[in-house]
Amino acid sequence: LRNLKTTTLGKKIVFFEEIDSTNTQAKESALDYPEGTIFLAEAQTKGRGRLGRSWSSIPGKGIWCSVLLKPSLDPTFAGQFPLLTAVAIAETFHNLGVDAKIKWPNDLLVDGKKICGILTEMGAELDRINYLVIGFGINVKHKLEDFPKEIRTIATSLEMVLKKEVDRVQLLCDILLKLEKYYFQLLKEGFEPIRKLWKEYTCTLGHEVKISRFNELPLFGKALDLNPDGSLLFELPDGQIINVHSGEIGLQ
Ligand code: BTN
Repeated sequence: LRNLKTTTLGKKIVFFEEIDSTNTQAKESALDYPEGTIFLAEAQTKGRGRLGRSWSSIPGKGIWCSVLLKPSLDPTFAGQFPLLTAVAIAETFHNLGVDAKIKWPNDLLVDGKKICGILTEMGAELDRINYLVIGFGINVKHKLEDFPKEIRTIATSLEMVLKKEVDRVQLLCDILLKLEKYYFQLLKEGFEPIRKLWKEYTCTLGHEVKISRFNELPLFGKALDLNPDGSLLFELPDGQIINVHSGEIGLQ
């Protein structure tokens, strides 16, 4: 990554031509590598998504990347990192001319179709994060027929949107620079500035939505606001207001 202008992120790169999942690799070797190490793969055979799903990662088409961070923070802050990553990637896309929106908590959509997913995993003790692995998958070079049939109506790629070639290496450099900027800002100033940016990029607030949850009944109601801790302020049909910490909003 010759054009990389960061001081920490991506200074060490672990590259695989093919691997099960860069998140799995990063987690397994988290203690052996320094903060900022990135795990990159040209193809993943067991790419993992949120809520126990799989992530389609065919060779050479996307950016399948996991960033290892070691912030000295209480584990309760971990939920802010996927939101921060979504902001960094949304902003990079906007600079390319791609109007990406964040669907709570951290899916990036263009015209309602998914272009990027983020999976953050943590190793922690009682009151300290040992490591965070921030995995992101970006659909870059896919043509419609490259996607598995069952996701063709709900997925898109940067080249499908822009109708021109996108350089994956330069894109990764741009994303890592933004991610590093917001990471350092979070450590220095807290979550509030990032929360404001998230609210600029989201398409979720103010809408009636259905939230599916892992092993729990779905919720129906209105997404009101992003709370200072990154959870979603949510109004149930009976007027009761609750905080939702994780889940998935149906693609509308
Ligand atoms: C989702 O939208 O459900 C999250 C998808 C995250 C995919 C990325 S690709 C790189 C990293 N390795 C994985 O196995 N998953 C993440």
